[in-house]
Amino acid sequence: MPDHQQTAVRAELARAKVNLALHITGQRNDGYHLLESLVAFPQIGDRIALEPSEKLELDIDGPFARELDLAGDNNLVLRAVRGFAERAKIDVPSVKITLTKRLPVASGIGGGSSDAATTLRLLEDVTGVYLSDADLHELAASLGADVPVCLTPEPQVMRGIGEDLAAAPLLPACGIVLVNPKVTLETPDVFGALDKKNNPQLAKMPDAFDDIAALIAYLTNSRNDLQTPAMSACGAIGEVLNFLQGDSRILFSRMSGSGATCFGLCAPTEMRAIETDLRTAHPDWWIASGPLS
Ligand code: C5P
Repeated sequence: MPDHQQTAVRAELARAKVNLALHITGQRNDGYHLLESLVAFPQIGDRIALEPSEKLELDIDGPFARELDLAGDNNLVLRAVRGFAERAKIDVPSVKITLTKRLPVASGIGGGSSDAATTLRLLEDVTGVYLSDADLHELAASLGADVPVCLTPEPQVMRGIGEDLAAAPLLPACGIVLVNPKVTLETPDVFGALDKKNNPQLAKMPDAFDDIAALIAYLTNSRNDLQTPAMSACGAIGEVLNFLQGDSRILFSRMSGSGATCFGLCAPTEMRAIETDLRTAHPDWWIASGPLS
């Protein structure tokens, strides 16, 4: 292990990315869609731990470990490590990465993107080699359209195809419940099934959302344009949304990203009870809750 590498285990939560609103506003010539999205990162996520090792290794554990291809070079975490070494002009770091996969894969909450972004930030700390912001964002964007936003797990507004980022207004203290009916959806299929691509932009946001009511008033006038095509492909999304809408403690519900995970917003004091009740009613669904930001 080179001298500049430290020996302690570094671990971080790779937070889920939730699209509170997602407007598709156009399409580029290369097929990628232009979007505007208000994104938040609840305190719910995978865990990434890095420790010194003889060589680069990746171990995957946790409830969704089996869904990932362990050996695959396509794993976004390994691609992040190799991309980092190439950009930083260093040898591939000899680290053991343990990914505890708690978020369902291909589920609209950016689990893989967040794993890759968290790995990049931890690699900077472990190697002591810091890329410029521009280099880090370019590397992140080369790994996937949602990876740059996941580098800063704070409320943000995404534009372009996801690479144009701005800080979002402060969000109020709020609880969130995430529900996935254990169905995976392929992102390109959902984008491909969009009827209309030039939808209106997000409305102007206030400087801050002072309370949950202000956030919900804003969200009520926004959309997730991918929700209709995702629901056509996957009937279970409608079941989840009906269930969330039928719970009076849930103040707002919608699908995130290209689905199938849906979210419900609630008072922070209610989220654990809602999670417990949902689990009892639907032991077949994946359910998690936590503070919104
Ligand atoms: O960039 P990433 O590989 O995560 O995107 C997966 C797929 O989602 C793309 O191949 C594309 O079909 C679709 N996509 C899109 N427009 C975006 C982001 C993703 O059409 N802004």
